[in-house]
Amino acid sequence: MSSPLPDFSVLPKHLGIIMDGNGRWAKKRGLPRTEGHKRGAQTFEDISSYCADLGIPYVTFYAFSTENWSRPPEEVSAIMALLRDYLGRAESRKEENKKKGFALRFIGNPDDLDEDIVAAEKHVEGLGATGEGIRTVVNMAINYGGRQEILHSVRDIARRVRSGELDPGDISEDTVSSGLYTYGQPDVDLIIRPSGEQRLSNFLLWQSAYAEFWYSDVLWPDFTERDLDEALRSYEQRHRRFGGV
Ligand code: FPP
Repeated sequence: MSSPLPDFSVLPKHLGIIMDGNGRWAKKRGLPRTEGHKRGAQTFEDISSYCADLGIPYVTFYAFSTENWSRPPEEVSAIMALLRDYLGRAESRKEENKKKGFALRFIGNPDDLDEDIVAAEKHVEGLGATGEGIRTVVNMAINYGGRQEILHSVRDIARRVRSGELDPGDISEDTVSSGLYTYGQPDVDLIIRPSGEQRLSNFLLWQSAYAEFWYSDVLWPDFTERDLDEALRSYEQRHRRFGGV
């Protein structure tokens, strides 16, 4: 029997998770790095599902950054193969996801991804919970970069100014936000980074203006529901001032 869910007095409305440490997890065991990613993908499935059980409204997982293309081609292919595998099994999760109120979204630049992946992402986005039935939106960031995302929005704004549709004086924070992949979602409240690194690595740059951080030495493939509980307990105690006193 599964244990009862912990009760938190406050949960982040939007949680960001940087899935780090797959390579070191594999190295420690004398395994190829790709094995670490495979275990990391399983952890992603477990933790994203747990986030939906807890009812965290938005969770963004950093799965593949715009900089990750510089990794050896075999490693990039292995991560894309894990993504294909995950997308390919979406139909089997369909009913459970609807029941849980789990909706999946992909954020990032689709232009550099293989066409079959982009098509599968679109299909899978349509399989989860919809409308009022949504309890948790899970954003999977693939070919995502925070600077590139802001640039994309700025270019769109420049085009609208040039066409005369928008006056530069009317450009607001919301105008910039409206060109981001996460438009309509709250800013990120808490960012979790395991594996001992304490960097943002181009993740949700605009959205993290007032984010809290939580770090841990646990490597992502070893990250458990209890580690997430610990991060959420820490978040519960934070006094957020948003620049005030
Ligand atoms: C960072 O660890 C991890 C990545 C760049 C890839 C993350 C991808 C997954 C967890 C799989 C994605 C899930 C699916 C379903 C496709 P690292 O390789 O930089 O680790 P290291 O710092 O120890 O080398």
